[in-house]
Amino acid sequence: MKIIHTITDLKKLLQPHRQKGKTIGFVPTMGALHEGHATLVRRCVEENELCVVSIFVNPTQFNNQEDLRLYPRTPEKDYALLERTGVDIVFAPSVEEMYPESDTRIFDFGLLDKVMEGAFRPGHFNGVAQVVSKLFTSVEPHKAYFGEKDFQQLAIVREMVKQLALPVEIVGVPIVREQDGLAMSSRNQRLSVSQREHAPEIYRVLRESTLLTGEQSPDQLVRFVTGTINNVPDLHVEYFGIVDGDSLQPVSTWQDSESIIGAIAVYCGDVRLIDNIRYR
Ligand code: PAJ
Repeated sequence: MKIIHTITDLKKLLQPHRQKGKTIGFVPTMGALHEGHATLVRRCVEENELCVVSIFVNPTQFNNQEDLRLYPRTPEKDYALLERTGVDIVFAPSVEEMYPESDTRIFDFGLLDKVMEGAFRPGHFNGVAQVVSKLFTSVEPHKAYFGEKDFQQLAIVREMVKQLALPVEIVGVPIVREQDGLAMSSRNQRLSVSQREHAPEIYRVLRESTLLTGEQSPDQLVRFVTGTINNVPDLHVEYFGIVDGDSLQPVSTWQDSESIIGAIAVYCGDVRLIDNIRYR
């Protein structure tokens, strides 16, 4: 496994493989890797002749400087996991390498980034689009892997690829969970013992809500899920939306769309957790 820090070295290393027509798979990450990331990486290793993983904590997608500062960084542990998983190349650039000058590009995603994460984290998806587009032009992968845990991010990346006409196939990978149902996240490390005990209630309530669609409208279920989770100690719902799986706009009946998901952000103490579930 090669660990590369500059775009020039990365391109040089990939060039002969590309010339031989090898398929290149790519998994972008911000490090502090866990089994959720490892699942994406295993898919990438299986489905491509060459697997590239990036580790870069992207400052432009953090709207909260404290969150950026506290973001866990565990490079040595990450490299060991990636080596074990069969990764060929790790791309771990510095902030200066990715942003030699500030990135002033503003993307227009229409209504896609006006809801949920986009509404509560202004500028977040613009920063994601900036870094993912730069990573895509550096790696030029055939396929790139993203987790459905960040459902809105996946939709934004698909839209960006369409807008920029990039020749990459975006693969969505289902959410990987702890045994008690909590969606795996690098942020889980920051939970106290009591918070960690209460956090699995998020997914438990989401699952319970899928059994109630026969008797409750989407609006009623939004109130049920929000109220039930807010009653759990340590948990405070920031938003819960029941939305069309493509447009991410709220639905008012279960017949409004063929694809409906519920997406939630919950503060567990001061740690912000997200999750989602499919209703149809
Ligand atoms: P990060 O949070 O490190 O996540 C990297 C990838 O792993 C994302 O596609 C995310 O959806 C996926 N992932 C994380 N936890 C998961 C889980 N429990 N189950 C399935 N997939 C999971 O998302 C980012 O980094 C950044 O925004 C990035 C795309 C790298 C751009 O900076």
